Amino acid sequence: MNAKRPTILIPGRINGRVRTRVEAEFDAISIDAADAALLDAEARAKVDGIASGTTIDAGFIDAFPNLSIIANFGVGYDAVDARHAATRGVMVTNTPDVLSDEVADTTVGLLLNTLREFPKAEAYLRAGRWAAEGAYPLTSLTLRGRTVGIFGLGRIGLAIARRLEAFGLPIHYHSRTKRSDVEYPWHDSLAGLAKAVDTLIVVVPGGPATEKAVDAGILDALGPNGVLISIGRGSTIDEEALIAALSERRIAAAGLDVFADEPNVPQALMDLPNACLLPHVASASVSTRNAMADLVVDNLAAWLDGRPAITPVPECAGLDRKPT
Ligand code: NAP
Ligand code: 8YV
Repeated sequence: MNAKRPTILIPGRINGRVRTRVEAEFDAISIDAADAALLDAEARAKVDGIASGTTIDAGFIDAFPNLSIIANFGVGYDAVDARHAATRGVMVTNTPDVLSDEVADTTVGLLLNTLREFPKAEAYLRAGRWAAEGAYPLTSLTLRGRTVGIFGLGRIGLAIARRLEAFGLPIHYHSRTKRSDVEYPWHDSLAGLAKAVDTLIVVVPGGPATEKAVDAGILDALGPNGVLISIGRGSTIDEEALIAALSERRIAAAGLDVFADEPNVPQALMDLPNACLLPHVASASVSTRNAMADLVVDNLAAWLDGRPAITPVPECAGLDRKPT
């Protein structure tokens, strides 16, 4: 007789390939949201793993007595209380590396769109204005001559730095730890980095340690030619301070892929001509999302089969099994 297949809970929406594979390879339970009240005690006791793309807090984790793993769809796992999971002996995994190049490509595209206004220039052409009114106005901003600061020189930050280095731009960075494997100047504070550069790319994880780290003081340090690109988490930017700095032209422009209250974007931000806005699409190609989906399900399969997790988050590294 076959051993019982593990049961995986999918709370809320998830990538289609994750759902298809979970339903094929495990016993699957789906609920509309991460609300434990949507399941009775018998169903909750069956849950061995969670495949998630939503907030998983301590109370939700505690509602599942036999929970063994939470596999997060995304490298950023600020929505999962991983520290609490670790205290319960529950493994948490994320999806690093497989998306770094895609996100870095998007960041360069967003930077160029912000400076050179390509989305607006295309809209001008499509509206027939090139033929009717003549050439699109010259852009006041350019990538040429800029100095780039990367806030968070991790996997994605380094992929962005390598690309922009090839564009001929000097790169500086700030993270809590100086890297020994790069030559870029390191700044021991975000304020020091912002003073040294005119183009700040934010790619740190979200969470309390980076909450509203980019505030009015940091934006003012960038100066009137300053450009902010935010690709990490919306919580890292003080959006009210950013809206004020953009509307008063204390900085020149901003390009944002992430927002504090997604998918709600403040109308004041949408009204600003010097803001270039994307709906959190940095990793959103079919091939990259498929690679992320496979990593989610492969982590579930490995862990529930008694093997080491493939990509445990640092908070849970101590729970991991040794390879045999
Ligand atoms: P990573 O390799 O862990 O890099 C994070 C970097 O941030 C490290 O250099 C880290 O260095 C630094 N850092 C962390 N906390 C910090 C703090 N409090 N102060 C200063 N520096 C800090 O992560 P990654 O794979 O590059 O991903 C970064 C983030 O990008 C994710 O967490 C996610 O939120 C976001 N992301 C967004 C999208 C999107 O679609 N827009 C896609 C993928 C990822 P130290 O530890 O030395 O400080
Ligand atoms: C995803 C991301 O878009 O990996 C991350 O941290 O922000 C993105 O790649 C997101 O996690 C899924 O919606």
